Amino acid sequence: MRKKLLMGNWKMNKTIAEAVKFVEECDSIVDTAEKNNIDLGVAPTFLSLKDVKAKAPKGLIISAQNVNDQTSGAFTGEVSPEMLQEIKVTWAIIGHSERRTYNGETSQACNKKMIKLLNQNMVPLYCCGETLETYEKGETKNFIKDQIVAGFKDIPCDKAKNVVIAYEPIWSIGTGKNASKEIAQDICAFIRATIKELYGEGTANDIRILYGGSVKPNNIKEYLTSPDIDGALVGGASLAVDSFHDLLMNIIQ
Ligand code: 13P
Repeated sequence: MRKKLLMGNWKMNKTIAEAVKFVEECDSIVDTAEKNNIDLGVAPTFLSLKDVKAKAPKGLIISAQNVNDQTSGAFTGEVSPEMLQEIKVTWAIIGHSERRTYNGETSQACNKKMIKLLNQNMVPLYCCGETLETYEKGETKNFIKDQIVAGFKDIPCDKAKNVVIAYEPIWSIGTGKNASKEIAQDICAFIRATIKELYGEGTANDIRILYGGSVKPNNIKEYLTSPDIDGALVGGASLAVDSFHDLLMNIIQ
């Protein structure tokens, strides 16, 4: 049985003080998640990570939003996996579409980051998703397959299942135009089939696949009751404690 996961991606939101205040108000939410066997996490900015990790309830996953594939060196503005480990942060989002769009990140670059994280026994949350143009041309599956195959290149079978995948169609992010549950389920099932081709049935059954894109408390249940969707990666609706709480409760109830 794959454990469900609700992850908030805070993007470039919240000062350190605001981020800490949020996690300090999360005790009962984390408790409820644990009692219901659901993983719960948030991804603050690099700047907030250390304080958030120190102040958050133990059971809350704290993830970076990006990481470099090197340990140290002349890479201005970058942060390494080892630096995250020093503050006990062991997750990083990789290849979010905003980083692909604004920072030119390719699936090949994401692949290097994933290999590095997995070698450090850390968890990559690998994002994939197509543009509206690709979707309208009916080329979503080819596009996603390329992102998955390139992202997982040279990752061995025993490590692949530790990756969490998020399917986030770009046309649904922050637009309020969420993909229907049928589309999300179809693509998440396709991603699982692609993992099966690459690694076999065991890994395909174990790996967790999330949907992201305009997930709100009033629609999260539709996604989480679909057989191949194991959780949600949520932007806007994860920013307020009340809404984060409602997202969790609407998975459970
Ligand atoms: P929204 O939930 O704000 O659409 O953002 C989705 C997302 O990009 C999460 O990574």
